[in-house]
Amino acid sequence: MSVHREDKKITVNSILEMKVAGEKISMLTAYDYTMATLLDAAGVDMILVGDSAANVMAGYDTTLPITLNEMIYHATAVVRAAKRAMVVVDLPFGSYQGNPFEALTSSIRILKESGAHAVKIEGGVEIRESIERIVNAGIPVIGHLGLTPQSVHAFGGYGLRAKSVHEAHKLTSDAQVLQDAGCFAIVLEKIPAKLAGEVTDKLRIPTIGIGAGGQCDGQVLVGQDMLGMNKGFRPKFLRQYLNLAEQIEGAVQQYVKDVKSGGFPSQEEQY
Ligand code: KIV
Repeated sequence: MSVHREDKKITVNSILEMKVAGEKISMLTAYDYTMATLLDAAGVDMILVGDSAANVMAGYDTTLPITLNEMIYHATAVVRAAKRAMVVVDLPFGSYQGNPFEALTSSIRILKESGAHAVKIEGGVEIRESIERIVNAGIPVIGHLGLTPQSVHAFGGYGLRAKSVHEAHKLTSDAQVLQDAGCFAIVLEKIPAKLAGEVTDKLRIPTIGIGAGGQCDGQVLVGQDMLGMNKGFRPKFLRQYLNLAEQIEGAVQQYVKDVKSGGFPSQEEQY
């Protein structure tokens, strides 16, 4: 049973109510109008315009190069598509770390120029003031802990985070700080399932996991990954629901054959 009517727009309140009701929250990434239209029609609760657009859409190795203007471009297209889903946009690397004012200015630009509903920001206690500043301006914020890809060079890779007692302790305390600072949800990325479950139990706000096990209040995946469009990417946490890469390649090979042989267009496909 859903706490939210299917035809009603998802809001911060709906997300918080889902945690209370024990209803799991579904989130997927999208970066363009066509994909976002499909995700929204299929009933996903939240669409994340992730800075993973840097990898998925632009082919960079990390999320670091994508700019605020580029994020706003992607977000604007997704917002045009989303009739029901809540649209959350990542604050990209370099758009908030300087100081709380910069974080606020970047967040305001995202909401004002794209029409999105919330921002997501990577980090713990270090960015507490920035989160408070954004929340106090009336902008809903989702935190992001664990594997925070903008810190890939500090971590030395994309491995599992919070394996040590020290790091697990910091993550637990950071989660509390983010809740106290006003975040309405927290993404937990690539951490042990047991730790994610403990953090989830302690918090009033929902956790949304990616590679963080089944006890989180919700799950998020990159849309292209779960649809099987990214051939080389098969981490343990990823459930692939389709093999679109194979289907698209097959379709394109057939198209090329049809064009070369003169089989396309047929009489019926001409004016
Ligand atoms: O950018 C992104 O896609 C993300 C998700 C992996 C949570 O932050």
